[in-house]
Amino acid sequence: MSPVALKLQLADEHDTETLASALALAWTQHPAQRLLITLDGDLGAGKTTFARAFLRALGVQGRIKSPSFSLLEEYSLDIPDLQFKGTLQTPAYHIDLYRFSDPHEWDDSGLRDVVGGPGVSLVEWPQRAQGLLPLADLSVHLEPAGEQRRCTLHARTELGQRLVRTLPEGLKSG
Ligand SMILES: Nc1ncnc2c1ncn2[C@@H]1O[C@H](COP(=O)(O)OP(=O)(O)OP(=O)(O)O)[C@@H](O)[C@H]1O
Ligand SMILES: [Mg+2]
Repeated sequence: MSPVALKLQLADEHDTETLASALALAWTQHPAQRLLITLDGDLGAGKTTFARAFLRALGVQGRIKSPSFSLLEEYSLDIPDLQFKGTLQTPAYHIDLYRFSDPHEWDDSGLRDVVGGPGVSLVEWPQRAQGLLPLADLSVHLEPAGEQRRCTLHARTELGQRLVRTLPEGLKSG
């Protein structure tokens, strides 16, 4: 499948949060489908800002710590299941590979099983594991453009493409 690319201009932190929330809410229509999102871009590009807003939109409360020291922060989500009129409980993982000194730490970390299981995984600094990560549904690239950020979304799977398609038009033309 050839990836679908979408380029957006994010004027400020709030724009990044709006994009992340919209994608998170789109996923709540398909919460039984595992979702992998990678976030790349330099230090301070806005990866954690995106991940926090994504998790907030899924109902995570309290402090959302950056996993840059811990490698992994785990959350439990309760997603309303419209089909069964109940709640689907599923995990969310916020991962930051910045501290990897060798891509093969990926194999020893146990993270392959984590991102291969159910739920949502948001991975900052995926390039630190080079090609060892599974194919991301969505890769988010952020880069500074003056005070703003330029964002490129690559949707690499059907799920990723579905999430991007359901973004409000106002966001897509940003
Ligand atoms: N459009 C924008 N989107 C996100 N952050 C922005 C934007 N404009 C300015 N910022 C600022 O840039 C900083 C982004 O910090 P953040 O921790 O999200 O970056 P990061 O990419 O996770 O960095 P690191 O690689 O160190 O983990 C914040 O201080 C935020 O306020
Ligand atoms: Mg970060």
